[in-house]
Amino acid sequence: MRNNFYYEYLHLVLFILSIFLLRLEITTTIAISHHPVAAVGAGNYKCMDKERHALLDFKACIDQDPYGFLSTWTTEDRTTNDCCKWIGVTCNNQTGHVIRLHLVDGDLEGKISPSLLDLIHLNYLNLFGNSFNGTIPMFIGSMTQLRYLDLGSNLFSGIVPPELGNLTNLKEFSLQDLRRCTIENLDWLSHLSNLETLDMSGISLAKEIHWVNAILRLHKLSHLSLDRCDLSHFVRTNSYSYSKSSSYSSIVTLSLAGNNLNSSMYHWLFPLTSNRLVDLDLSHNKLDKIPKYLGSLCSLTFLHIAYNTMPAKFPDFLDNLSGCTSATLQWLDASSSQFTGSLSDEIRKFSSLQTLDLSHNQLNGTISEKVWQLPSLQLLLVSSNSLKGHNNLSGRLPSSIEYLLNLEVPDLVDQSEGVGEATDEFERSLYIGGASGFATGFWIVCGALLVNRRGRKAFFRVMDSLKDWFYIKVMVFTANWQRATHA
Ligand SMILES: *[C@@H]1O[C@H](CO)[C@@H](O)[C@H](O)[C@H]1NC(C)=O
Ligand SMILES: *[C@@H]1O[C@H](CO)[C@@H](O)[C@H](O)[C@H]1NC(C)=O
Ligand SMILES: *[C@@H]1O[C@H](CO)[C@@H](O)[C@H](O)[C@H]1NC(C)=O
Repeated sequence: MRNNFYYEYLHLVLFILSIFLLRLEITTTIAISHHPVAAVGAGNYKCMDKERHALLDFKACIDQDPYGFLSTWTTEDRTTNDCCKWIGVTCNNQTGHVIRLHLVDGDLEGKISPSLLDLIHLNYLNLFGNSFNGTIPMFIGSMTQLRYLDLGSNLFSGIVPPELGNLTNLKEFSLQDLRRCTIENLDWLSHLSNLETLDMSGISLAKEIHWVNAILRLHKLSHLSLDRCDLSHFVRTNSYSYSKSSSYSSIVTLSLAGNNLNSSMYHWLFPLTSNRLVDLDLSHNKLDKIPKYLGSLCSLTFLHIAYNTMPAKFPDFLDNLSGCTSATLQWLDASSSQFTGSLSDEIRKFSSLQTLDLSHNQLNGTISEKVWQLPSLQLLLVSSNSLKGHNNLSGRLPSSIEYLLNLEVPDLVDQSEGVGEATDEFERSLYIGGASGFATGFWIVCGALLVNRRGRKAFFRVMDSLKDWFYIKVMVFTANWQRATHA
């Protein structure tokens, strides 16, 4: 019993520590990228008068700077005079020209000053997570040297100006979560022929019925996020057709979550997908069937279809997916999607699976032995189903598999009788796992996820899946602790 107690305690502490470290790391990353010294390097260059004035004009149009982001932007004395050392500003270390402006999550409130036009060497402008308001200024469309532009999560309203189509050097472009903005016509988008990453999540495309065509003209596009874009309004018109030749898409990651999509979306999904597609997110929609052609996307590695309405048999679903996808699929999130049937032998084809989340479905029967023989499986989540396990299962588990299953009465609870309320909920849950398995899997995932914003989004999705796990941890810990203190 004592062993159990320390074992659970250790797990819990490890988990909390992981979260803490992760947060710390994210904060540090942000802090470093804001830090003037780190951003500038140690050159002897100094900023141009004209560019310094442009930045001061930019500051003058900011009404609120709650965190003092721009407090270093002053010319009070010689040490602060060099705008290349101001927070958020990066200069070219040879020429001293301002090349990057990175003012993220500062809650800056006000208007964007046209003085930015004087920063003729600026190629990176990131104003994500502030409170800039009014319409998106047209003059931004004249900053044609920009390669990176992020205006996401601000309070802009009105129509997104077609002038942005003049930014033909853009490689990454985000208008994410500009919920008050509207787009009526996306023709301008197809001029951005160098675009590789586009995020328009949270902006309504309900009025633009030709957005697929605009996207298909972007031949270098690799990453597309259109979460929460009201795409369910998209109607197929008779005059609207995709020729096979123009349908070769370069998209590698495609995210269409939260659009209330039903299965009629597949006719336009088809031209957007190709054998280059690696990551497809269709979660939080109203899809009821997965068509066979998804299984013929031979590079598909990550598939998210959680939170849909698929009262289908899980084995049939796997069958539809099994074309060539079964060899590549590493991550399948099919939680909360009303799947029925059992976790049967069909799973054995999916030999690359590392993470399988089937929690919150209506699966029943016993879990196929084949699951435990999947060579790469690291995380299996099957809580909130009606699955049965075997009492002797733990003996056969590879230590790298973390296994959550409801119903069976767990050993741990057997030993914690008399604990009362704490175990009532817990009795429906069973946890068996190797001590090192979870930690390893967790860090592999986290390591990969820290890399970029998209990764962080995925991280929080993982956290969503792990909340059951965490809950059980807390329950076991509480139960054992109470026992230990009563003893
Ligand atoms: C100047 O910038 C280049 C390219 O960003 C970098 O490789 C180089 O190390 C920098 N030099 C100094 C002295 O910071
Ligand atoms: C920018 O785009 C607008 C509208 O698309 C166009 O009328 C204008 O001529 C463009 N300006 C430049 C400088 O290319
Ligand atoms: C499998 O695909 C076929 C044809 O694409 C479809 O009719 C069927 O409903 C799909 N089954 C599931 C479970 O998605």
